[in-house]
Amino acid sequence: MKIQLCKTYLDAKESRAINNVLKSGWLTAGPMNAKFEEEFAKYIGVKRALTLNSCTAALQMAIEASGITGEVILPSFTFVASANAVVRAGATPVFADIEYDTCNIDPVDIAHRITPRTQAIMVVHYAGQACTMDKIIKLADQYNLKIIEDSAETIGGTYKKQKTGSFSTGCFSFFPTKNITTGEGGMLTTNNDTLADKIKALSGHGITKNTYDRQHAQDPWHREANYPGYNFRMSSILAAIGVEQLKKLDAMNARRREHADYLNRKLKFDEIDLPVESKECRHVYQMYTIKVKKVARRDFVLGLRKKGVMASVHFTPPVHLQQYYAQKYKRSIHDLSVTERVAHSIVTLPMYPGLTSKELNYMINSIDKVLRKLSRRPI
Ligand SMILES: Cc1ncc(COP(=O)(O)O)c(C=O)c1O
Repeated sequence: MKIQLCKTYLDAKESRAINNVLKSGWLTAGPMNAKFEEEFAKYIGVKRALTLNSCTAALQMAIEASGITGEVILPSFTFVASANAVVRAGATPVFADIEYDTCNIDPVDIAHRITPRTQAIMVVHYAGQACTMDKIIKLADQYNLKIIEDSAETIGGTYKKQKTGSFSTGCFSFFPTKNITTGEGGMLTTNNDTLADKIKALSGHGITKNTYDRQHAQDPWHREANYPGYNFRMSSILAAIGVEQLKKLDAMNARRREHADYLNRKLKFDEIDLPVESKECRHVYQMYTIKVKKVARRDFVLGLRKKGVMASVHFTPPVHLQQYYAQKYKRSIHDLSVTERVAHSIVTLPMYPGLTSKELNYMINSIDKVLRKLSRRPI
C-alpha cells in the first residue's frame, strides 16, 4: 500500500468551473476573482479579501504596504517563505522561539525580543492551529506593533471561535498541500479599506484600476500608476477553482479532524508525542505532526516511507539555521532551543480528507512495526 503525504480533493465541479472561465474568454483577474474574494471575506469574517498569486506575495504586500521597514518578530520554526517575505519587503526578521506543545510562536519569548526598532509581529498559525492571539494582541497594543498573520497552513481554523486571518492582516496559501487549493495562489484579508486598495494597486503594477475595471471607463486606455508595483495577480481560472474549493472547505476540514481524532486515539506509543489542540482553538490539521523521542527521526521517517507511508518533515532546518539567515542575522539570533528541539523531532504523517480507514489502520500498524524495530521491542 502507498499512502501519499497529501492529496487534493478536486472533482467535476472544478472542471466545469474552469471550462466556464475558458468559454467566457476572460482569463486574467476579473469577475471570478471578485466572487472568490467576496465569498472568502465572508467566510473569514472580514471586510476585504484580495486574490494574489501566492501567500508569499500576500505576506510581502502586508509588510510593504503597511510601511514596515524595521524589525519584524516571527518564528524560525516555519517555511522559509515567511522570513523571505519580511526580507523582500525591506524589513528585518527577528526570530522568536515556539511553544513545545503547539509549535506556535511563544508570546513570552516575543516580549523578550521587542526593541525600539520592532514594528510588527508576524504570527504563523502552524499546521492548522491558531496562535495564542489574546496574548499577542495585548503585546502589540502595548508596544504599538502591527500584526501580520501567516495563515498559509490554517484555512478555517479558529481561536476563541474567531477565524485566523481576521485578527489583523491575514495571508493564506492555496498551494496543493493546503486546506483548499487553486494549484498556486494566495489571499490577503483585512478590515482596512485603505490598505486593501493600496495592495490591490501594488499587486497589479501599481495601477489603481485593473483591466477589467477600466473596461467601461470613459477612457479605458488611461492607466493611473501610483506605485512601482508588481504583478502578483491571480488568474480567473484559478479563482474559479477557489470558489468551488471554498464550498467544500468545512466538510474537508471536518474529515481532517475525524482522521486526527482517530490517530490521536490509536497512536499511543512511548516514542511519540501527539499533536496538542489548545482549548481555545479549532485545529484544522493542514498537517498532522507528531514528535518522536528515543528513536532516530531519520530512521523512523525512512522506515515508514519504505512501507509506503510517505511521512515527511515540516520543518527542518528551521529558518535561522538556513545558510542565508544564519550568516546575515547571526548577531540577532539567540537561544531558539525549543525550535531546535522540535525541528529535530517533528514528523509529518499523511493527512488529507480522502484518507480511508484501511489507509489509517495501515499507517498505525506501520508506525507500530517501525517503532518496535527501532526500539528493539518484540515484533
Ligand atoms: C507558513 C507558510 N508560509 C508561507 C507559505 C508560502 O505559501 P505560497 O506557496 O502560497 O507562497 C507556506 C507554504 O508552504 C507556508 O507553509
